[in-house]
This record gives sequence, C-alpha cells and structure tokens, in this order.
Amino acid sequence: MNSPTGGTQRSEQKPATAARMYDFYLGGVHNFQADRQAAQTVIDQFPVVPAVARNNRAFLGRAVRFLAEAGVRQFLDIGSGIPTAGNVHEIAQAAAPDARVVYVDIDPVAVAESLEILHGNDRATAIRGDLREPQAILGHSEVRRMLDFTTPTALILAAVLHFVPDDTQAFGLVDHLVAELPTGSYLVISHGAAETFALSDERTAAAREVYTQRTTTAGKPRPRAQVERFFAGRCQLVDPGVTWAPEWRPAPGDPADFADDTRRSGMWAGVGQLMAMPTTGQPAT
Ligand SMILES: C[S@@+](CC[C@H](N)C(=O)[O-])C[C@H]1O[C@@H](n2cnc3c(N)ncnc32)[C@H](O)[C@@H]1O
Repeated sequence: MNSPTGGTQRSEQKPATAARMYDFYLGGVHNFQADRQAAQTVIDQFPVVPAVARNNRAFLGRAVRFLAEAGVRQFLDIGSGIPTAGNVHEIAQAAAPDARVVYVDIDPVAVAESLEILHGNDRATAIRGDLREPQAILGHSEVRRMLDFTTPTALILAAVLHFVPDDTQAFGLVDHLVAELPTGSYLVISHGAAETFALSDERTAAAREVYTQRTTTAGKPRPRAQVERFFAGRCQLVDPGVTWAPEWRPAPGDPADFADDTRRSGMWAGVGQLMAMPTTGQPAT
C-alpha cells in the first residue's frame, strides 16, 4: 500500500522507523516515503542490506520450526516487525496448532498490522512495547494472559538487539528477560555483525547516521564474541552455535544470496537453551 494508514499527505511526513525501513528492504508495502528514502540511503552504502534482511528472516523461520519441533509451545517475539512472509505464528502454529505467540514492537504500525493479520487467531497477539523496558513487557496483561512463564518459552530477539547500542543496557535487559523464564526455555538471537559492518568503516558510519538522525532507534553492530556473550553462562548453545545466519541449520529453499561467502550475510545468529542455575548463580554442569 506504500502508506500504512492510507497515504495522506500528513502520513508521508512521518519520520522513518526501523520497522518500516526493514519492510522496504524486504520488498513490503507498509512504508512511507521517509522510510523509503532512509532505507535507500542505507542501501546506497550497503547494497547487500535487502539480502541481509532476507537471510535473517530465513534464519528466524528455521529457528522457530526447530523450536516447535522440539516441543516449544510459547513464543515471545520482541522487535517482531511488520508482518511479512514466514511470520513466527504461521510457522509455529503450522508445526504445532496449540502454539501461542506474543509479538512486541515499539512501532505502532508493526503492532497494528500484526493485530490485523491475527484477527480471529486466539492464540496469538501483538502489543506495543520497548525492549529497553523489559519489566513493562513481562508485566503486560496480554503477555500474562497468553504466556505461562512456568512452561518453557522461546524468547526471540531477532535483529533487534543492535537497536540497543549501549552494551550495559543490552546485556542487562537480556538478563532481566531471561530471569523470568524457566529452565528449558530458549533464547533466539540474530544480530548485525561488526565484522561485516565495521564500526571503523565510513559506510557503516553513514548507515548508522541514518538510524540515529532519521529514526528514534540508533543502532550498533556487534562482533561475534559479544553476541555469544548474550548466551554465555546461562544457555547451552544449540548446534552449530553462533554462526553467520545462513549457516545456522540451513534448509532446502533458503535464499542463495550468500552461498559463496556467508560472511557477507552481515548477521550473527544463534539459539540457546536455558540451563538449570544452582543457587551460586553459576550454570549447573
Ligand atoms: C530489523 S527489524 C526485525 C524484525 C524481525 N524481528 C525479524 O527479524 O525479521 C527490527 C524491529 O525491532 C523493532 N525495535 C527497534 N527497537 C526496539 C525497541 N527498543 N523495542 C521494541 N522493538 C524495537 C523495530 O521497530 C523493528 O520492527
């Protein structure tokens, strides 16, 4: 539709958002002119970005299918984005019709579009929430109504932690969210890679400037070691660990953009299962 709320002159003047820019990268139609211009500026620096987004979505789909097949029936997807092909609830409920999903996003358009496609689905919903305020998400009445945190749950943070540039805040909020989940739950993370989008690279600086200046969500890629730190000390990483997104349990039908060089895929990806923690605060061995 090229204008999520009907294409009025006023809506075209809205500032860009990360959700709608991502929608543009994926070829979606839920974006305004400001989003398209901002996204195009990023693509001008890194023409690979639409393929990065495609491959991130493919990882997310494989991860959710893996979890549903492993018996997970609850999914809390924070930074879920605007609905597109292969949404979490579609994949989870295809594998397990009783799976329940709560989508959380800071962008009201993402929430409104999610609610629209979820109409009539009483096992999935969407709420507006800010990852940087984990307590508000965990305490939200819809989250409490839909998810039972005494049962293993998948916490999905796909391509969203890089929108929390402060390391202390990013690691702290993951601590906070994970602390609510029982042993046997899963943590799913994909994250923009500093090895691909080097912080010293002028093009990265220009792309980061777009998010800082034109959206309310500044961003920062992180190196693999830092992405692994989100899992460290509490999770048993599922094979093959934290890898380039296309290398995480590849499956038939995956996009072939990075078949010859996965490093260009620009996104680290991993899934970890929460281990029992003894009272010392160290994971049990
Ligand atoms: C790149 S998209 C990823 C969408 C989806 N998770 C995926 O991997 O395909 C990032 C999403 O995170 C959302 N986001 C950014 N900062 C956020 C925050 N502080 N709290 C909640 N959502 C946030 C954006 O609105 C956007 O929808």
